[in-house]
Amino acid sequence: MSAALSAFLQSQPGIPLFPDQASSVADKVDALYFYLTGVTAFFTVLIFSLVFYFAIRYRRRSEDELPQPIHGSLKLEILWSVIPLGLVLVMFFWGAWLFYHIRRAPSDATQLYVVGKQWMWKIQHPDGQREINELHVPVGRPIKLTMTSEDVIHSFFVPAFRVKMDVLPGRYTELWFTATRPGEYHLFCAEYCGTKHSAMIGRVVVLEPTDYENWLAGSPAGETLEQAGARLFRQFNCHTCHEAGPTSRGPSLHEVFGKRVQLKTGGAVAADEGYLRESILQPNAKVVAGYEPVMPTYQGLASEEQVMQIIAYLKSLTRQEGQVPQP
Ligand code: CUA
Repeated sequence: MSAALSAFLQSQPGIPLFPDQASSVADKVDALYFYLTGVTAFFTVLIFSLVFYFAIRYRRRSEDELPQPIHGSLKLEILWSVIPLGLVLVMFFWGAWLFYHIRRAPSDATQLYVVGKQWMWKIQHPDGQREINELHVPVGRPIKLTMTSEDVIHSFFVPAFRVKMDVLPGRYTELWFTATRPGEYHLFCAEYCGTKHSAMIGRVVVLEPTDYENWLAGSPAGETLEQAGARLFRQFNCHTCHEAGPTSRGPSLHEVFGKRVQLKTGGAVAADEGYLRESILQPNAKVVAGYEPVMPTYQGLASEEQVMQIIAYLKSLTRQEGQVPQP
């Protein structure tokens, strides 16, 4: 029913209540939304109707009229406890299932990097193409965005995809989607971030696979993210400590991504993108067991985009050795 309703609403050009459904989760989000709205509307109407009806039906008809006391009804109590319980449990499990689905990117998703700043979106493709306030993606392929901010909190919002994720300074957040219909869709910043927050907008262009290949070919990339990362790895002299063999001052970074790393302070941490980023910008926060906290910080030297390139390179060091890390 909800699918029919949403199809109807979208077919009415005069009623722009709903944005296009253009991702694999859009109809699922709308179905839950219609359920919530439907339950809410039903009980709102029911309760207000009964309030009015009872107010009139059982109004005091004379000055000395006394109401009949009521001693309750177990059946009625159970009925009006169990029915709402069922309705909200449906909300809970449906919502939890959908949340889980929306938050976990498929392992075969293509990874892109997004940096938000006042007031623009900067996007890097794995092959090195870069875009500002535009995101070109192919239809039907899962896309995972790893995002961070250079300054304040932003929020990456594509209404037609029904996905939104805050973009925070100092850490990585993720968002994924599979676009299902070619076209152009709005990209908004959905977190108030200063004077030109309302101008921090862009468009997502969903292309047929062949058009997408043409777009990639027509946007000369120079070097890929991994190549750029490898270049920076030399430029920042990372290799002097991390590739010096057994006597090196820093741990080897081959096969580090996706592994658990033992820390000097005890305990272990998963070497995910967030950990690698922290180790570049705040190297002494989590020092690897067996090493001294001698690494200088690259805060202010490497931009967020460069850090993403170095991470892409470090990830490639694990991949090349035939070990695809599982998230
Ligand atoms: Cu960025 Cu609002």
